[in-house]
Amino acid sequence: MASLTTAAPLAAIGEHLELFTVLHAQPTILLVDGVELNRRVVRATLSGTGARFLEVRRPSEAFELLAREPVDLVICDMFLPELNGMEFCRQLKANRATSLMPVLMLTSVQGSEHEVEGLTSGADEYLLQPAHPSVLKARVLSMLRHKAALDSLDEVESILFTLAQAVEERDKCTSDHCRRLSFFSVELGIRLGLERNDLLALHRGGYLHDIGKIGIPDSILNKAGQLNEDEWKIMRSHVIRGEEICRPMKSLVNVLPIIRHHHERWDGTGYPDRLKGEEIPLLARILQIADVFDALSSERSYKKALPIEQACRQLEKEVEAGWRDPELVPLFVSMLESKDDTSRMSTNLRAMAGGINQP
Ligand SMILES: [Fe+2]
Repeated sequence: MASLTTAAPLAAIGEHLELFTVLHAQPTILLVDGVELNRRVVRATLSGTGARFLEVRRPSEAFELLAREPVDLVICDMFLPELNGMEFCRQLKANRATSLMPVLMLTSVQGSEHEVEGLTSGADEYLLQPAHPSVLKARVLSMLRHKAALDSLDEVESILFTLAQAVEERDKCTSDHCRRLSFFSVELGIRLGLERNDLLALHRGGYLHDIGKIGIPDSILNKAGQLNEDEWKIMRSHVIRGEEICRPMKSLVNVLPIIRHHHERWDGTGYPDRLKGEEIPLLARILQIADVFDALSSERSYKKALPIEQACRQLEKEVEAGWRDPELVPLFVSMLESKDDTSRMSTNLRAMAGGINQP
């Protein structure tokens, strides 16, 4: 695979975002109103926005349409056939697929109590009709901008994951490494009773932990012999580079300690901060064990794969040497060696581990 540099992926992100902007140049607005005249007035007012309009009379039709069409904004009346506008909003926000869909509620009923009720039901904006055309237009454009920004963040995050996989392929000669790492880390996290956010961070950390290697030259990353001290210095910088790449993404805040600290050692001889014992964030210690196990049990250009049992014994030796968490490693090993065939985790784990080093 061609060498990746820091500049190339950043340019790729820029190109992708440009493409995204072009593809989303025409936002889609769904009008939900039982009265045809109301829909026509809103459509005429917003005709200059360049939006595409979809129209339905009932909430049930709206739910059907939202399940099959990408929509950027829902504008609904407070009074609708079947369900009132508030209940419609509650159901939209309660559904994971539509919970981030912006909703503008329009009504001709005066009274702050209605406004409060509309907003507490989940509507993002509330306007009294007849609203001044320029006010309605400004609100709608502002909501569409916000939605586009949210979509862009999703896109950037998925690009980061793709880049991270490209780095792994270049480094470890297997695109499956990230998937296995995520799997092993999350399974260990489940055994430790970690909460959902931590499990999500482990899943993401499995893919992103080495993204900082994107800036490491091939001559160092794939060097056949020993690295000299200068080369090691560059290699070790991948944890800081990785943290810097992912820091702007708010959704990755829980992944940053994993990226920065996955090469610390229990006895304080690791890098970059020489943290010791429980000073090393738990999620980083979990991912590190999965990473070391996967490295031991996978074939690389310079070594053969160890069978699972031998890889486990090697992990235990690293505990004796003072490098790994002495409580987590036995838990990880027992998880891998579990013979309970009825356990979903056990079956999946052995299937996954078996895929690493089949003769
Ligand atoms: Fe690493």
